[in-house]
Amino acid sequence: MDRLIASLDPEERGHISESIVDAVRAVPRHHFIPDVGLVRDDDGERYLIDRQADPDAWYRAVYGPNGIVTQLDDGATPLTALKGDFTSSASEPATVADLLNQLGPEPGHRVLEIGTGTGWTAALLSHLVGGHGEVTSIEVDPQVAEQAAKNLSYAGFHPRLLVGDGALGCMDGEPYDRVHVTCGIREVPYAWVEQCRPGAVIVLPWHPGYGDGVVLRLEVQDDGTAAGRVVGFASYMWMRAQRPGSQETAETTRWYWTALDPRALGDLCNGADLAISALTGLESSVSSGVDDDGEYWRMVVAPAGDPGSYAVATWRPGRTRHAVQQVGDRPVWDEVLHAYARWVSWGEPSWERYGVTVAPDGQSIWLDTPDNVLRRQEA
Ligand SMILES: C[S@@+](CC[C@H](N)C(=O)[O-])C[C@H]1O[C@@H](n2cnc3c(N)ncnc32)[C@H](O)[C@@H]1O
Repeated sequence: MDRLIASLDPEERGHISESIVDAVRAVPRHHFIPDVGLVRDDDGERYLIDRQADPDAWYRAVYGPNGIVTQLDDGATPLTALKGDFTSSASEPATVADLLNQLGPEPGHRVLEIGTGTGWTAALLSHLVGGHGEVTSIEVDPQVAEQAAKNLSYAGFHPRLLVGDGALGCMDGEPYDRVHVTCGIREVPYAWVEQCRPGAVIVLPWHPGYGDGVVLRLEVQDDGTAAGRVVGFASYMWMRAQRPGSQETAETTRWYWTALDPRALGDLCNGADLAISALTGLESSVSSGVDDDGEYWRMVVAPAGDPGSYAVATWRPGRTRHAVQQVGDRPVWDEVLHAYARWVSWGEPSWERYGVTVAPDGQSIWLDTPDNVLRRQEA
C-alpha cells in the first residue's frame, strides 16, 4: 500500500487532497483486481500477472504504480494473448487520484460515474461521499459490470450499479453534484450537463482528436451550459460509441516530401495538439511508432465523414526531407501543418489556455475565453 500511496506523486501532479489519500488507503485495491491481469509498464512492455502462479508479483503489481488491464477487444481476445485493444482496466492509481482531486467529491454528494470497470473508483467515490451521499455507476459491458458488482460487494461498498450506455446518464438520481467519467470522450454528451445542478462539476478524460488525452473540468452554469478548461493529462480507453471508426482504404494515393520533421508533430503536450484538434477536426486514431530500423512514422486520420483519408509521414535517420503518403481526397497532413503554423503564429499557447463549453446544441472548443471559439461541434 505504501508504494501505491507514494506513486500518487503529489509533486508532479499537484497536491492530492488528504481525503483522497485516505480513501485510497481505505479501499483495498486487491479486492478489485482479477487473478489474471495484464500490466503495461513504463517502458510499454506488456506482461501478465497471475495470483495463483506468482502471488508476490501479483500483489506488487496491484499495489504498484501501473494500470492493470482486465479486458481486451471487449472480451473477444483473452488477456493471455497480450495483444489487442485495451477495453477495460483498473486505471493507474496516480491518474485516478488526480481525476478525483479535480472532481472534489464531498460527503453527502450525489455522484454519477461513467465506466464502472473493476469498481475500484466507484468504491473510492462511495468512501468519499459517505453514508449520506449516493454513487451511481454505469458500465456498458454486462460481464465487466457483473464482476464489478461482486468486487464491490465483497469489499463492502454498495453504490447503485447500472448496465447500459453511460452517454445517456441516469435520469433517476439527478440532480447530480458531480459527474466522474473514466472512459475517453471526444464530444461531451449534454445529458450529463442536463442531469446536474448548477455549480456541479464534471471531470472527464477528453480525447479531442489529435494527440493524447487531457483532463477537462467543467462547471455547470445557471443557463444550463457547462464550461471549463483543460486541467491536466490523462489517456483513457474510449467510450464505446465514440471510438474512432475503422477506416476504409481510399483509392487515391499521392507521395510528396515535407521539410517539417514529423517528430516535431509527435507527442505534443504543449497545446499544439489541442490547436490541431480544434482547427482540423482530425482524429489521430493510429498515432506514431518507431520501426525496427529506427524509422519514425506518424499517421493522421480523417474522422468519419471523410472515409479513407489519412496521411503517414516518415522520418528516416540522416534525411532532411521526409516522405508523406497521402491517401484519399482530404489533404490531412497539409491541414496539420497549417494548424501547427497557426498555433505558432498565436504565440504557442499552452494546454491550460484551452477550454470547452457544452450546450444543448453541441460543444465549442475555445482559447482563453469562451467567446474565442476555435471549433463548434454540433450535437
Ligand atoms: C478505464 S475503464 C474504467 C476504470 C474504472 N473506473 C475502475 O475504477 O476500474 C473504462 C470502462 O468504461 C467502460 N465504458 C466504455 N464505454 C462506456 C459507455 N458508453 N458507458 C458506460 N461504460 C462504458 C468500459 O467498458 C470500461 O469498463
